[in-house]
Amino acid sequence: MAGDWWRDAVIYQVYVRSFADDNGDGIGDLPGIRSRLPYLAGLGVDALWITPFYTSPMADGGYDVADYRDVDPTLGTLDDARGLVRAAHGQGLKVIVDIVPNHTSSRHEWFRQALRSAPGSPERDRYLFREGTGDAPPNDWESVFGGGAWTRLPDGQWYLHLFDPTQPDLNWANPQVRDEFHDVLRFWLDLGVDGFRIDVAHGMVKQDGFPDVGAREQHKLLETRPLPYFDQDGVHEIYREWRKVLDTYDPPRIGVAEAWTATAERLARYLRPDELHQAFNFHYLTTGWEARALREVVDHSLTAIPAVGAPATWVLSNHDVHRHATRYGGGPAGVRRARAAILLMLALPGSVYLYQGEELGLEEVLDLPEEVLQDPMWERSGHTDRGRDGCRVPIPWTRGGSALGFGADGSTPWLPQPRAWSELSVEAQTGAEGSTLELYRGALHTRREHPALGAGDAVDWQDSEPEVLWFSRTAAGRTLHCAVNLGPEPARLPTGTVLLASDEYEVDGSHTLLPTDTSVWWEA
Ligand code: NOJ
Ligand code: CA
Repeated sequence: MAGDWWRDAVIYQVYVRSFADDNGDGIGDLPGIRSRLPYLAGLGVDALWITPFYTSPMADGGYDVADYRDVDPTLGTLDDARGLVRAAHGQGLKVIVDIVPNHTSSRHEWFRQALRSAPGSPERDRYLFREGTGDAPPNDWESVFGGGAWTRLPDGQWYLHLFDPTQPDLNWANPQVRDEFHDVLRFWLDLGVDGFRIDVAHGMVKQDGFPDVGAREQHKLLETRPLPYFDQDGVHEIYREWRKVLDTYDPPRIGVAEAWTATAERLARYLRPDELHQAFNFHYLTTGWEARALREVVDHSLTAIPAVGAPATWVLSNHDVHRHATRYGGGPAGVRRARAAILLMLALPGSVYLYQGEELGLEEVLDLPEEVLQDPMWERSGHTDRGRDGCRVPIPWTRGGSALGFGADGSTPWLPQPRAWSELSVEAQTGAEGSTLELYRGALHTRREHPALGAGDAVDWQDSEPEVLWFSRTAAGRTLHCAVNLGPEPARLPTGTVLLASDEYEVDGSHTLLPTDTSVWWEA
């Protein structure tokens, strides 16, 4: 069904500032994305998710929105946004945009009004202003970016910001806030977008009474204890209202939760039939390259998420975490594992999120000079956490040019690209046998054609050595096998018609000898 396209979609994340720079000012922009739509269509993805491009002082890469109904002038115009959505649709690509409802920028008109207004005023009630005790903040909550979550104004009141001080948290108990976001949703839906990725979807409602957490390093605690500002039950009521808005469009538009929850069961609560459609599977993303752990997280996800009627989703990288080739060990071994990982991920039932540049086998840039770092985490952590700039380096399109084709020759990208990326560029990898880009293309095209790839909600595990993950899936009378060898020795597997392998392998009579860190798809 056309309305169900998202259930097994492959969705490509575009981090706007780092994807393609059309006007050569060093910053990626909407016309840049538009110019690269043929690349994305040719790659074989179904949709793009575009990170925030709204009017913003860019204190947090656009996740600090000053005007939810306009485009930041450095990234384009409203007409560019409209044109991009239309052009994407023309290429058969859906478009998901970000919405940032937990906080605004401190430059948002509402926050400016709040600052000009007195404590207790309706203007302040749209945010979370509180009195402290003496010189102490209202409670012990910490900012995700480091330091306390409260900032004090000259008049003595404090305001809450779970992120940067330039990102004040909204008060979702205030009906004006709720109405405003319904209207913002409709604004972009009317412009033609197919859905929203909801930023900090687990953060909008805070526990009554704002109780202390009673511990430090709070953000590392999420998996072991509830936090009074995340994953509160009250947040679901918001999504029930949003769902009604999404469902007034035909076909219905989708909502995707960026929610960090303790368990897959807690995540599934966001995906109940009257709430959102998908949520990122961060439990999968944070699992290491280890057979047993991966099998557990796959099983756990497939138990919890389809139980509420939603498709499981899979993701390995995004703009907030180290690229997975690096997490998996880096260097040739890390890239080899990342290549094996994409065939595993694309064989699982449900929907897959890719992050720009992973199809090129890019690694995290770990040696950016300190003076170019822009992530607020770097300052907020007192220069102990370098933050997320290393996965946000503009991607290489061509072998040559001062920006490797990200922008025109002569332009300087906002973060410097490693020169070695020249040989990882789209140009260098296109048509190159064995390149990571061609592996992704081959895998995505095979997934489109093969009924057992993507659809459904279960896998059939086959007996294998503990360090080998092997499962089959059957649909429309065709059975596909996927095996990944995570062990140090070659694994012996039955062979058949091989559709794709992440690297070279040997055949021994009726068996495949699958080398370490290699995956293969075959039909028996
Ligand atoms: C999650 C986004 O992915 C991240 O980049 C941002 O800093 C925070 N939310 C705050 O909006
Ligand atoms: Ca630009």
